Amino acid sequence: MPAFTATAPGKIILLGEHAVVYGQPALAVPVRNVRARAIVHAETGQKAATIHLLAPEIDLDATYDTLEPENPLRLAIAGVLNELGISRTPACSIRIQSTIPMASGLGSSAAVSVAVIRALAGFLGHPLSREKVSALAFEVEKIHHGTPSGIDNTVVTFDKPVFFSKDDDLQILSIGKPFTFVIGDTGIPSATAHTVASVRRDYQAEQQRYEDLFSSIGSLVLKAQDAIQEGKSEVLGLLMDENHAFLKEMGVSISKLDQLVEAAKKTGALGAKLSGGGGGGNMIALVSPDQADMVAKSLEKAGAVKTIISHIEPS
Ligand code: PMV
Repeated sequence: MPAFTATAPGKIILLGEHAVVYGQPALAVPVRNVRARAIVHAETGQKAATIHLLAPEIDLDATYDTLEPENPLRLAIAGVLNELGISRTPACSIRIQSTIPMASGLGSSAAVSVAVIRALAGFLGHPLSREKVSALAFEVEKIHHGTPSGIDNTVVTFDKPVFFSKDDDLQILSIGKPFTFVIGDTGIPSATAHTVASVRRDYQAEQQRYEDLFSSIGSLVLKAQDAIQEGKSEVLGLLMDENHAFLKEMGVSISKLDQLVEAAKKTGALGAKLSGGGGGGNMIALVSPDQADMVAKSLEKAGAVKTIISHIEPS
């Protein structure tokens, strides 16, 4: 059986994280210069049905049947086998590599799931539709996020900028002109399930305040959708700043994220905010293309452990 390889990009949330879990819309775009990759090979000399998993970056070298029932890789593989109605696979190995920083709001868990699901289904001779891949990755995301909105698996599977609302059909975001973002990593890992659960606790304690915050964020997202479509960078920047202020009010920012946001703004970024679950992880700054290197340097000076320059363009 020939080997099969699949990849999936990282992602950033431009606006709307957390509120999206409560039914508000959000905007997310792929970050294609970081990727997860899964390669499935037939393994000779092994018993049929043995699936060998190798992920050197997380020191994983194990067989499928020895993984804990809640292990995300186990769930991704089980999802594919279930979907295809296959109980015994040919002996094979799945090698996973990723350049997406983990637990940092860049969609690493969703990208790994999508790459594994695609590569295994392809290897078994039954490539799955994007809708199906996304739905299977969503099931795995429940382990990472608790109550995920589905935005990560969607943007990573479709590899397109999206306007996402969990109760509506997917809309591809229309982009009026290129936009440049600098992504800055605090280097502080943060599990999305943790921040999503803490927002839920606060929401239950202060329902009205949180509903107001979520709907204010939802309005920013609608305005940002127009700004992106019309190519209005200044407007988009201001909306990102406002979104960060609401995320701070929700208690999901930390001082290092605020410091990086501040540093980007001082260096001339049009807007900046945390991106993803918060509590650590990454922030993003909207910049004009000629400012990108300068903002990246100022983020590094302010303590970012890694920066990535990323663009979105009209398709
Ligand atoms: O995976 P992260 O950290 O980018 O978070 C995803 C965005 C959240 O809104 C916080 C959670 C969700 O499922 O939508």
